[in-house]
Amino acid sequence: MAAIDCVIVCTSVHHGNTRKIAEAMASILGGRVLEPGDEAHEAICNADVAGFGSGIFFGSHHRQLLEFARSLSPGQGGATFVFSTSGTGYRTPRLIGLDYHRELRRILQRKDYTIVGEFDCKGFDTFGPWGKLGGIAKGHPDETDLDNARAFARALIRAA
Ligand SMILES: Cc1cc2nc3c(=O)[nH]c(=O)nc-3n(C[C@H](O)[C@H](O)[C@H](O)COP(=O)(O)O)c2cc1C
Repeated sequence: MAAIDCVIVCTSVHHGNTRKIAEAMASILGGRVLEPGDEAHEAICNADVAGFGSGIFFGSHHRQLLEFARSLSPGQGGATFVFSTSGTGYRTPRLIGLDYHRELRRILQRKDYTIVGEFDCKGFDTFGPWGKLGGIAKGHPDETDLDNARAFARALIRAA
């Protein structure tokens, strides 16, 4: 399939890390990147695929994005993907049973969305003590992360 009608709903408040990932995906998918709100609500109704992403805040996606997902009408759902950036990255916390995507995934599935892909990468983090140390995951998302995000988007198109 050459293109899909896609909307990406993104909250990116700490350093704009997740927005960079969302824009890289949108450059391939051809979709719009919107913040949670009325416009995103409307766009989702007409989209083939909806993406949801933010930084990770205390172990979950940003509250604003989670609230937006909760506000979607049940039964409205279609294909969706979720993504995140975080100081530690997704894999390390998974080793101790902490799943950064769990809450968003759970909400979307309850709204009858089918999760067709998940993406994550590190994002520069200066929260709390990390800030005093100059931050962690400096330079992320980097070019490799952006390449990976574009490759993820290409795979979504191939699978559509
Ligand atoms: C208040 C706060 C809480 C955070 N909590 C976590 C966390 O639980 N795990 C983690 O890996 N990173 C955490 N981070 C780091 C962010 O997830 C990371 O910097 C992310 O890339 C920010 O995305 P954004 O710039 O798009 O908002 C936190 C950052 C802030 C400011």
